[in-house]
Amino acid sequence: MDRRSIRKLDHIRNALITLENGANSFDDVSFVPNSLPNAALAETSLDTVIASLRLSSPIMINAMTGGAGGTTQINQKLAIIARERNLAMAVGSQMAALRDPDVTDSYLIVRREHPQGILFANVGAEATVEQAIAAVEMMQANGLQIHLNVMQELLMPEGDRDFRGYLERIQAIRESLDVPVIVKEVGFGMAKESIEKLIEIGIRTIDVGGRGGTNFAQVENMRNDQPNAMFEDWGFTTVESLLEANAVGHPGVSYIATGGVRHGLDVVKAASLGASAVGMAGAMLRLVQRESLEDCLSTVDRWHHQIRVAMTALGMKGLADAVCTPVMIAGKTAERARLRHVQ
Ligand code: FNR
Repeated sequence: MDRRSIRKLDHIRNALITLENGANSFDDVSFVPNSLPNAALAETSLDTVIASLRLSSPIMINAMTGGAGGTTQINQKLAIIARERNLAMAVGSQMAALRDPDVTDSYLIVRREHPQGILFANVGAEATVEQAIAAVEMMQANGLQIHLNVMQELLMPEGDRDFRGYLERIQAIRESLDVPVIVKEVGFGMAKESIEKLIEIGIRTIDVGGRGGTNFAQVENMRNDQPNAMFEDWGFTTVESLLEANAVGHPGVSYIATGGVRHGLDVVKAASLGASAVGMAGAMLRLVQRESLEDCLSTVDRWHHQIRVAMTALGMKGLADAVCTPVMIAGKTAERARLRHVQ
């Protein structure tokens, strides 16, 4: 097996191990109860809009894999779940397929299983305009994700070391594509300064990809046999990143919250902090690796039900109502947000 395939399979195995500890920043967020919500569960709607695309669920299966043996089956199962529950889905980085057409099938299976679905292509910020266009065409994608993963690259012995020119390339890609572009972090979160730079170059959908779920510093340290290595608490958590996004306060920009989303209540918490949708990667991976398709679908149904329960109890009809719902932010999240003046 070649080095790239080994790396991808290592990522999958290590991601599952790093996820075992379930507490994260969403636990610092709680709702003010509403004893008179004047709402009905049957009237709640899960519809939302991201990147100008209408979705019937705020849960999106976020970018994970493709490009190595074994990843075709994972992508196929994820795509069937996406199709059966009408979830948007992103494929993993297509940089591998752009360099080696032999591995495209592991991505194409997603479009084959979910022909009518909202699918996102995925490239790194090192991609050229031509590669970005090719990635979208390959998937007949409805949008393109460009991932930012500087710390992960730096921790990979074979990773990139030169991060110059990202903004210019992202802008050129955005201007050349006729589908929306989402810029996403992969679990290190985003500060308002980075968000502002992306907005300045015309990006209108940002996935803040915060710390709290899959920890790529830990994943890489495990691969490289450095169990006590540093940088594992680098960056902002997902809730901190959403507070940063709030501090930017730019109308017309929509946010996706990825990073440690575990269930329906986290989705409503993310929505209350301004997210229009959430991405789930690690939790979905764990599900498809451990459960039958039927059980995976029941779990997604349970998450959707939990969202409706929280919405009803809070008096919400649509997810957009969540931003008007008072929340309390406690603990380390509150303390750190005060230091940043974002709360
Ligand atoms: C990822 N993620 C990712 N993101 C991306 O933009 N391109 C990619 O190729 C990958 N690859 C990848 C592989 C595996 C095994 C995992 C678990 C994740 C990152 C993913 O989309 C997400 O941003 C983070 O995993 C944080 O979300 P969770 O896992 O905490 O829900």
